[in-house]
Amino acid sequence: MPRLDVGNAEVEFEVVEPVSAVSRLPLVLIHGFPLDRRVWRDVAAVTGRKWRTICPDLPGFGRSSGRAASIEALARNMHGLLSRLEALPAAVAGLSMGGYVSLEMARQFPEAVAALALVDSRASGDDEAGKEKRQQTVQLVRDSGGAVLVDQMLPNLLSPYTLAHRPEMAQRLRRIMLDVPAQTLIDASLAMRDRRDQQELLAGLTMPVAVIVGADDRITPPSVAEQMATAAPQGKLTVIPNAGHMAALEQPEAVAAALEKMMQSLVRS
Ligand code: MLT
Repeated sequence: MPRLDVGNAEVEFEVVEPVSAVSRLPLVLIHGFPLDRRVWRDVAAVTGRKWRTICPDLPGFGRSSGRAASIEALARNMHGLLSRLEALPAAVAGLSMGGYVSLEMARQFPEAVAALALVDSRASGDDEAGKEKRQQTVQLVRDSGGAVLVDQMLPNLLSPYTLAHRPEMAQRLRRIMLDVPAQTLIDASLAMRDRRDQQELLAGLTMPVAVIVGADDRITPPSVAEQMATAAPQGKLTVIPNAGHMAALEQPEAVAAALEKMMQSLVRS
């Protein structure tokens, strides 16, 4: 797989290229926590038929080196990668923590982001209770290792439908989560704790913003997604049935269809 040096990290990424692209605008899919680019693979297989689709591993995750120093730094890393790939401007989609990185890209590099998709994510920062929970996560990983955190998180990530009809999905997800090094679990938890509240930014964004959420997402529920879609001037909400917090993994065709709608709106405009 290709890798590129983005300053303080070597980022590995996958690109799915269409035979003949609908438009030259690339689509970048940024994974969440504690995951890597594999969560986007089934979505990229669909969007890559029409759009050049780039799936990176964030620094410290998957096969990328470096560390998840802060959400700001991760956004700079992603911008650096896309710039080196001559893939700017791009449509940027982020799953949960990937959404935090995508919003931060839109803040730091507004001209680089042609459209934004927030998938099972939120624009608000952590409140005091949330910050305290991050601290507990860090302590848990330090004391007991990453596997304990994975087993604590896993039951909240998938919808009842997925668990009933595709039980193998939990194992697939668990394998991806277990591959994240303990240091990255700690770094990324602290980075998320200290991230900006981007609600004001969201309300001022002029590009198309697709807000996509699993109907059964318990971590960033549909009510949060609805508020974001209302706040963004060009916000569009898609609720994905039979999906939880891992909509990209659970219902990739439906998520790809929502992303394709966003991409088509750019071709038309
Ligand atoms: C994620 O899925 O990336 C995390 O749930 C985000 C978070 O912990 O805030």
